[in-house]
Amino acid sequence: MLSNVSDGLNLRKAMPRKSVAEMLLTEDDEGLTPHDIKTILGGLMSGGFETVFSTAIITIGMLATTAGQAIQERAYADILSAYSSPEEAFQRAVDEEKIPYIMGLVKEALRFYPPLKLLPARQTYKEFTYQGTTIPKGVLLYINAQAANRDKAVYGPDADQFRPERWTEKTSFVVPPPYHFAFGAGARMCTAVNFSNKTLYAMFLRLIVAFKITESSSSAPPNTHYIQYKRDAAASNAIASDFEVKFTPRDAQTLERCFESSQSMSADESVDGSGEALRR
Ligand code: HEM
Repeated sequence: MLSNVSDGLNLRKAMPRKSVAEMLLTEDDEGLTPHDIKTILGGLMSGGFETVFSTAIITIGMLATTAGQAIQERAYADILSAYSSPEEAFQRAVDEEKIPYIMGLVKEALRFYPPLKLLPARQTYKEFTYQGTTIPKGVLLYINAQAANRDKAVYGPDADQFRPERWTEKTSFVVPPPYHFAFGAGARMCTAVNFSNKTLYAMFLRLIVAFKITESSSSAPPNTHYIQYKRDAAASNAIASDFEVKFTPRDAQTLERCFESSQSMSADESVDGSGEALRR
């Protein structure tokens, strides 16, 4: 990866802004070694190791419940009215976010099940007054994202319900960006908001257009309670307890065609044995 970035530097000279990797490689005042750079870049990526995955898993669990069936059907109907075929929707899901209801599903999943319940602490750098209380300099402040995301004064009296339509309906509870605190807020907010939203959108759209997701007949239904769903209550990142659900293809032939077109789209993006991306 480092050599790819180095090789690309000449091509990108005209660009006014540098990527983080580019700055690390060209401005070596700090005496960073390649090992340091790899560690820093690994750290930047590590924010995404479990967050996207854990949000996707608990949302699949929610979709499988009785309440989730209505969400799937509404999303499926909206997909079919926006695209000429399920295959087209499947294919375009990675390029565009066209279905407001699925964008609402992504927001609602992150609002209801923020992977990091307590955001990384902030330290006050000067004394200030908040609602009549003086907050001294040097105090550590923690935001409880889970509690903030369920504030009825902000999200309405149904804040404790999982309702993707809250993001598409016209109500008096219009929540401005960043919509919820799953990604944090302010200058140190998650750097991968767009990437994560797009990934979750594509994932949910593709799953819903291809499958009906239901609870399996086994004895392991999903626990979708907003606190109790965590496998490890003490873990900083909320991963759902194990559960089983059933994926039934809506139409086996359509699914086959979706897989084929998806495979042919990604065929020229294969990786070699070292994990280095090959040219398109
Ligand atoms: C659903 C997906 C994700 C969620 C919910 C999430 C959540 C968060 C949260 C809560 C923070 C702390 C923000 C704050 O202190 O205000 C954060 C920071 C960060 N995240 Fe994410 N994240 C997600 C995906 C990703 C991915 C995919 C990556 C990288 C590929 C990533 C990279 C980072 C980095 C580098 C930071 C540190 C930003 C800084 O300190 O300035 N995150 N994320």
